[in-house]
Amino acid sequence: MEPRPNGQLLVLSNRIPKGDVPAGGLVYALHEALTGAGGTWIGTADPSHSAEPVLSPIGSGDYDRMTFPVTGTEYDGFYLGYANGVLWPLFHHRADLLDIQEGHFDAYAAVNRRAARVIADRIGPEDTIWIHDYHFLMVASELRKLGVENRIGLFLHIPFPNVTDIMALPEASMLAGWLAAHDLVGLQTERDVAAANDIVAQDGQAQHLNDGTWVRDGRVFNVEAFPIGIDAKGFAETAARVPAPDLLLRPGAPLLIGVDRLDYSKGLVHRFEAFGEFLERRADQTIRPTFLQIAPGSREDVSAYQDIREELERAAGSINGEHASLDWTPIRYIRHHIDRDTIAALYRKADVALVTPLADGMNLVAKEFVAAQDPEDPGVLILSHFAGASEQMDSALMVNPFDAGSFAQAIEQALTMPLAERQARHASLRDSVFEQDVAWWTDRYLKRLRGGSMVPV
Ligand code: G6P
Repeated sequence: MEPRPNGQLLVLSNRIPKGDVPAGGLVYALHEALTGAGGTWIGTADPSHSAEPVLSPIGSGDYDRMTFPVTGTEYDGFYLGYANGVLWPLFHHRADLLDIQEGHFDAYAAVNRRAARVIADRIGPEDTIWIHDYHFLMVASELRKLGVENRIGLFLHIPFPNVTDIMALPEASMLAGWLAAHDLVGLQTERDVAAANDIVAQDGQAQHLNDGTWVRDGRVFNVEAFPIGIDAKGFAETAARVPAPDLLLRPGAPLLIGVDRLDYSKGLVHRFEAFGEFLERRADQTIRPTFLQIAPGSREDVSAYQDIREELERAAGSINGEHASLDWTPIRYIRHHIDRDTIAALYRKADVALVTPLADGMNLVAKEFVAAQDPEDPGVLILSHFAGASEQMDSALMVNPFDAGSFAQAIEQALTMPLAERQARHASLRDSVFEQDVAWWTDRYLKRLRGGSMVPV
C-alpha cells in the first residue's frame, strides 16, 4: 500500500473479524473507517498458549488485519473478568453487578501492555493510533512509557461513569492518568464528556484551559463527543430490497420489534413488563399486537448474563401465560442470531421499535430502524432517554424505561399515531441519521485527532 501523507492509520480493538465482516455494530464501523482511510487493524487472537508480543496477519485488502496472542488464563481475567465483569457494569452505572477478583486487573494490564508493545514495534513516525473501547484503556499510557510520541486517540463506545460510580473501582485513581495519555478521548455524547471532565477535574492533576483543553504533565489532551453513525444509505437499500419473512400475523395486527445483545443494560425485562402493562390497559382490547424481541446470547460465561437470561425468560413466560390466547402469542422471544438482511427487512415491516436501554453508549438499532423505514408510511421509534442516541434523536417518542405506566402509554401512542405525525417525526430523524452517518463520524474524529478543525455537531 502507498504511504499516506499523514502516515498510516493503526486501529486497535478487542474484537476483530477473523473472516467476513459482520454488518452492523462496532466492527462494521471500524471496517468502514479503514476501508476509506487504509492502514492496519489490530485485535486479539482467539485464546491460545502463546503470550508472545508478535502480530500475525489474518488478511489484507484495502487495509491489513492482524492479531496478537492472549492466553486462556489472560482471556478469563482480561475479557471475562476485568473488561466485562468490572468495567462494563461500572461504566453502565451498575456497581451492584461488579465482580472484582484478584488477578483480573493484572491480566488486563498484561494484555494492554502487550497491545502497546506490538503497536510500538509496528508504527512509523507519522502514523496515527486509534484505540477502541474499554478493553484497552491503559494502552496509551503504556505506549507513552515506551517513548511513543505519535498521535493517539481513544474512542469509547460505551457510556462514561460518573464520579460516584468510579469510587467502586479499585483502580479509580489511575483512570484520569490513562485518559491523559491520549491526544483525543472521543465519547458518544455530551453527557459522557461532562462525566469524564468531572473525573479528570476531581483527580486534580490536570489543568482545564478556557478552550476546554486539558493539560497534564506538559501534555495537552481533549475530551469531546463524536456520536457514532451507521451506513444509513446501505442499510436503507437493504431494507427496501430484502423481502421480510412471513411472521404469520393476523391481517392488520401491529408488529413491535426489539433487537439487542442479551445484556442487562438493554432494559429487556423492563421492556417486557411495560408491554405487559400496555396489554393490560390498552383501550381497544381487540387489538392483538405481536412484540418480536430478538436477543442473541452474549458473554455467557459471566454470571450476570446467566441471571438476566433467566429473568427475561421468566418475564416472557409470565406475560404470555397471562395474555396469550389459542391463536395469539403476544411476545415472540428469539435468542438465536438472525442475519442482518432479515433484520433490516423486519425493521421496515415493523410498526414500532422499542429501543429502551437503561444505559447505552449510542445504540445503533435506533438509527438502523429509522434508516429502514418507508418514508411514506414510517414506523415509530420509542427511544429511552438513557440511550446515547437520544441526544441526536429527540423526534423519537422518548420514554423513561423505569416507569412502566408512562412507557405503556407511549406504546399506545405509537400504535395509534396519525400518519402525518409519523411522517414528520421520521423525516426529522432520517435527516440526522443520513447526514451524521459512519463516514461523517470517522472523518470528524480523524480530522480532529490529526489536528484539523472540528465540524460542529
Ligand atoms: C459493545 C462494545 C463492543 C463489543 C460489543 C460486543 O458494543 O462496545 O466493544 O465488541 O459490545 O460485545 P463482545 O463482548 O461480544 O465483543
